[in-house]
Amino acid sequence: MGNEPIVQALKELMKYEMAMLITEDEDDKSLRAGTGSRGNHDNSLVYSRAAAMVRACQFKIDDSLQPDDIPFCGHATANKIKDIARTGTTEVLEAHRSDQVVNDSSGTPRPDTGGGATKKLFMQLPGVGAKTAKIWFDLGYRSYEDLEEAIDSGDVRSEGGRLPIGFEQAFSLQHRQDLLEALPTSDLQDMQTAVMEALTHATGVEGWKMIVVGGGRRSLPSHDGDFVITHPTRSTEGVVRMLVDRLVEKKKLVSSRQAMCRISEGRMGAHLDHMRQHVLHGTTTNSNNIAVDRFDKVFGMFITQDGKIRRMDLIITPHEEYPFCLLGWTGSKQYLRFLRQHAGNCNMYLNSHRLMRREGQQSCIVPEDGPPLDRSGKPGWPPGWDEKRVVKDEGDIMELLGVPRREPHERNCP
Ligand code: CTP
Ligand code: MN
Ligand code: MN
Repeated sequence: MGNEPIVQALKELMKYEMAMLITEDEDDKSLRAGTGSRGNHDNSLVYSRAAAMVRACQFKIDDSLQPDDIPFCGHATANKIKDIARTGTTEVLEAHRSDQVVNDSSGTPRPDTGGGATKKLFMQLPGVGAKTAKIWFDLGYRSYEDLEEAIDSGDVRSEGGRLPIGFEQAFSLQHRQDLLEALPTSDLQDMQTAVMEALTHATGVEGWKMIVVGGGRRSLPSHDGDFVITHPTRSTEGVVRMLVDRLVEKKKLVSSRQAMCRISEGRMGAHLDHMRQHVLHGTTTNSNNIAVDRFDKVFGMFITQDGKIRRMDLIITPHEEYPFCLLGWTGSKQYLRFLRQHAGNCNMYLNSHRLMRREGQQSCIVPEDGPPLDRSGKPGWPPGWDEKRVVKDEGDIMELLGVPRREPHERNCP
């Protein structure tokens, strides 16, 4: 359609906006992947949605269009899209690219919007979020080399100097060449082999399933390896700890003493009860915080056979939630926002664990406890479904939601 340069520009704008958004869990990009859940208006979501819309657009977008002809976004965004179609760029984008303060649509400078390019650069390092990027920028650092020099000359805060930098961040800086490279598929294979060995060794059982998810499954060059792990019969409880220990022992994973190696565990116990409560009281957040789930997982640094350092995410799911976990961790993030928004429009709730809804004073798991709802809120089974049929794959979830089946590579709304 020829609209792809516009998509890329909007994605770039989205990233600058993420660099402006300071949140509590500021330095955990893995936890922050949903954003927009903390009350403050998140412009990055506006651009993400606009980029998806432009990519899906069946006609060429050019400057002859009126803002109203550009669907699914407001006039301010439509005008930026027109600028980009005409000139390849727009004022806000140029301001960000040159670290300048950005004006809002009424021409007023937005507070704390300077340093977009530098902050975005710093945030590419695993373990560096908007908060740290801002501190570094405000201290006058402008490049990775600046940071390195500060470390080499002992100007770090822990030694009485200026630069606040944690050991995880320093590790990412040191290994940035590896970490910023797109992964060749051989690295994914490498991870698969090492992790499968560790799973079998640590648990003493065969039969583990390990599937590539994330960008790698959507057949994009990926900045990390994402995997969902499950077992058809063995309990997955406690596995993550044993798995990490084995991988560290085999020198496949950098230990948590040297680099980012974040383990989440033990949050699965009462998760169904929690979700039932949320569904009953209407306290779910359908499309916003896609990054919150209760699976056991590890976000770490893998060491490849040729000694390169790569980010790796391992998500461990009980077998009954496997299709939902797969769908949630395959992304794209914007595809999931659309899917969850759609579920919400049907008065249902979708996350990476289950599809649920309310039924009178009860919460109801779909399809176990009852049929899904359609857009008008009416319950009813899609063709071929009843309460005895279980969800076996992602396509089943799409059928229950009444949306077209999409293969992973078709879920790349940016
Ligand atoms: N995800 C999630 N919860 C998180 C982080 C990610 O549910 N805390 C999901 C998102 O749906 C995302 C997928 O897992 O699409 C993979 O995350 P990530 O590696 O961050 O993104 P990718 O889409 O793989 O992009 P990239 O190629 O840059 O890695
Ligand atoms: Mn990924
Ligand atoms: Mn990831």
